[in-house]
Amino acid sequence: MPEPKVALVTGAGRGIGRDIAQRMAREGYAVGLIARTKSQLEETAELIRRQGGKALVTPTDVSKREQVLAAVEAVERELGPISVLINNAGAYLRKPFLEIAEEDFDFQLKVNTYGPFFCTQAVVGRMAERGSGTIIFVLGSESRSGPLQYSAYNASKLAQRAIAESVAYEFMHRGVHAAALDVDGAVGLERVTEAAGGDVDPDHFVATESICNELVHLINQPRNAWTFAVDLRSYWQWRPRVAAKKKA
Ligand SMILES: NC(=O)c1ccc[n+]([C@@H]2O[C@H](COP(=O)([O-])OP(=O)(O)OC[C@H]3O[C@@H](n4cnc5c(N)ncnc54)[C@H](OP(=O)(O)O)[C@@H]3O)[C@@H](O)[C@H]2O)c1
Repeated sequence: MPEPKVALVTGAGRGIGRDIAQRMAREGYAVGLIARTKSQLEETAELIRRQGGKALVTPTDVSKREQVLAAVEAVERELGPISVLINNAGAYLRKPFLEIAEEDFDFQLKVNTYGPFFCTQAVVGRMAERGSGTIIFVLGSESRSGPLQYSAYNASKLAQRAIAESVAYEFMHRGVHAAALDVDGAVGLERVTEAAGGDVDPDHFVATESICNELVHLINQPRNAWTFAVDLRSYWQWRPRVAAKKKA
């Protein structure tokens, strides 16, 4: 009997994570859903079930190791061994550098760095024992050159990238594929497109469908050709890294 396909998606209550969770279900995975807000997770689970998929709601704060361990245990007990982990949960803090308090900095590191660290540590050992598994870290523009007023967020996400790279090299020989997926730009979520005002070309934003396509591509890569880091940006990238040449 082949093992059941089971994915654990963090930050699955709304935004990108909700779309990822639904896509994983469409790809035939039973999906464990993690976020703190139970009602939002239940909405995601309902969307999955309506499409004929299977989902388990596990309200969890990823910054708390005990809660992460309990969620992983519940998912593996109810759905089976986790074969895919998507570290997507994230919290943003935008504040001028001089106003960032120590608690702000701690908060960003707790959610965006400790969170994926705890989740990865909770599943990677068992994946390695089974000789297979995929772990994806959803990153953003910050891991290239941080936007201003996001220094605590940038630091926490850069640290997450470092974890992704180390895990990739530490576990590759044991059959576990870890990869950083760098979404370099604004994503086409309703709240983002609305904030940009109407009448904006939808291709200015990275579509969640494109993010999901890339995730599925990474998950299905053969073990003789694994990608450890990939990036996506729209043609309209809002923050060019090289100034346009002035016309003569
Ligand atoms: N939106 C963009 O334009 C964009 C661009 C590039 C990269 N990204 C990355 O994509 C990821 C998702 O972004 P998004 O825009 O979809 O965010 P979002 O709409 O704010 O959703 C974040 C999700 O993470 C959960 N979450 C936050 N803190 C958590 C915690 N401590 N424990 C467990 N779950 C927690 C939230 O639920 P609760 O609050 O209920 O816990 C929610 O389900 C983030 O890692 C972000 O850095 C986003």
